[in-house]
Amino acid sequence: MNPTAVSYQRLDGRAASEAIRGRIAEGAARVRAQRGRAPHLAAVLVGDDGASLTYVTSKVKACEAVGFRSTLIRRPAATTEAELLALVAQLNADPELDGYIVQLPLPAHINAEKVTLAIDPRKDVDGFHPENLGRMVLGQPGFLPATPSGIMQLLAQYGIKTAGMHAVVVGRSHIVGTPMSILLSRNADPGNCTVTLAHSRTQDLAAITRQADLLVVAIGKPEFITADMVKEGAIVVDVGIHRIADDTRSSGFRLLGDVHFAKVAPKCTWITPVPGGVGPMTITSLLVNTLKASDQS
Ligand code: GUN
Repeated sequence: MNPTAVSYQRLDGRAASEAIRGRIAEGAARVRAQRGRAPHLAAVLVGDDGASLTYVTSKVKACEAVGFRSTLIRRPAATTEAELLALVAQLNADPELDGYIVQLPLPAHINAEKVTLAIDPRKDVDGFHPENLGRMVLGQPGFLPATPSGIMQLLAQYGIKTAGMHAVVVGRSHIVGTPMSILLSRNADPGNCTVTLAHSRTQDLAAITRQADLLVVAIGKPEFITADMVKEGAIVVDVGIHRIADDTRSSGFRLLGDVHFAKVAPKCTWITPVPGGVGPMTITSLLVNTLKASDQS
């Protein structure tokens, strides 16, 4: 045992989700009683990428568990951009549908930006449309992107006070890193952090991450963050999830995050496991957004 080890605790996304999903189920029952139908989410999956199918199936199952209606719409990998845009137009016009997502990544021949722009912002429960991202930046009501918003809910659920912390976000993707940096810097609780957004061009990344009181990692590289990159007592949130081939498992794979959990955890006060950390919270946020959409439609 490392003599300087901090006794870490897990930020358990499954437990936090359970508590929040209990409240969502009550909201769903209220919508059913008032409107005569359940909140309804659709998920569009183009192609047959195994990981994407797993995620989308989890989203659909989570809807059913809280009393939502859900529809999984599958299209072959050869679907054209025009065909997908026609489907999006149909979903926008469907009065029985409160919100929907188009699972990313899309096949390379489809322009994901064009598809995102075509989604009605009122049904954009992923919060990826520029209108919703703009509303987030301005602090106006709208749909927050599911993963960053799930992380904020996880911190809130554990009563973690982030005001004044130096938060370092590693990765500047449109769906995680960039919105995460904005949410953490807002005048809110959780929030009120001084934020550094690090990325592939950051010089001496380890020197930056070692300054983090709160480190959020979303770079898509298995076990990239090692113990020497983390300050004693830090809070670490790992957004990565990677399937690594493993013949010793009946599934044939094991899951790793962007953080080397075994080495990093002993330095932390709080850390999210993979799986069971951020993943369930992303789905919970999607449910929160869908309930909100059904209240507004
Ligand atoms: N691919 C990875 N994460 C997400 C997500 O949150 N939403 C969608 N639509 N696709 C994703």
